[in-house]
Amino acid sequence: MVAFPTETVYGLAASVFDPRAVARVFEVKARPSFDPLIVHVAEAEEASRVAATADPRVARLAARFWPGPLTLVLPRLPSVPDLVTAGLETVGVRVPDHPAARALIREAGTPLAAPSANPFGYVSPTTADHVAEQLGEGVDLILDGGPCRVGVESTILGLTVEPPGLLRPGGVSREALESTLGQALAVAVPTGRLTAPGQLVRHYATRTPLMILTGHAGPPPGAGRVGLLAFARAPEGPPYAAVEVLAPDGQGTTAAANLFAALRRLDALRLDLLLAEPCPEIGIGRAIMDRLRRCAAPRP
Ligand code: TXA
Ligand code: MG
Repeated sequence: MVAFPTETVYGLAASVFDPRAVARVFEVKARPSFDPLIVHVAEAEEASRVAATADPRVARLAARFWPGPLTLVLPRLPSVPDLVTAGLETVGVRVPDHPAARALIREAGTPLAAPSANPFGYVSPTTADHVAEQLGEGVDLILDGGPCRVGVESTILGLTVEPPGLLRPGGVSREALESTLGQALAVAVPTGRLTAPGQLVRHYATRTPLMILTGHAGPPPGAGRVGLLAFARAPEGPPYAAVEVLAPDGQGTTAAANLFAALRRLDALRLDLLLAEPCPEIGIGRAIMDRLRRCAAPRP
């Protein structure tokens, strides 16, 4: 079991064909077994080691987006252990765009099942230090490839349903997928039902409660020590105990790359409340708002 860098977030990898190693990944993350893992391969052609890839859209999407932050949900092959797919008849597969990730897969000689390398439900890691802080004791080895370039997880596209379903917004924009496929996607709405993988409402969550700002409201009266996750610049107005600016250049891609590290820094201050400014919901902005909404979802 090895933690490794990808262009999106750090993953925690085990050979897809070794159920004992896969079971350890679930254990270290305290991840419920109903939540399937994504399989990582080094080349697009190797997707056929775990999934049926005859659908011509697979080749078209792979040519445009692989290596890259797109996970395709395809019919699984029987050789993939149930533990990896949580018993589903489908498997998620992608080619990560990171030299260390692809070298690791090639050296291992097997596709790697890997979730994000964080305790289940918490913010995903975008540096090797994030992994060490949270899972250090539990993992055998952490490959340090520096900070992740994209910073939010892969987009998950379900190709076993018609029209194809956007199961999780991520590093590849819905606009880019729709223009490549020439059709509109069905957009999944988080339901919180355990039968709907990837659809948990509360996820990517800080320990400190987080609210998304609407309009120009400041901290609610009596909220105590409040931290602000600002999009493009720090406000001059109401006093915050701490402010993180995600994208001084105003770019969504910059904000995504900084999102999880900024959330972790604010969370580490043990403030009473975090407020997040919304960002425009286009391109990667959809993935940022998806993560913020899940972080802000009510606690169980
Ligand atoms: O960017 C990423 O995708 C990162 C890096 C490490 O590759 N991985 C990642 O894995 O985010 P994880 O386990 O944190 O999230 C995988 C998501 C889960 O929400 C899971 O339910 C969904 O993918 N998933 C996996 N297989 C699926 C399937 N067959 N059908 C529907 N959803 C699936
Ligand atoms: Mg995750």
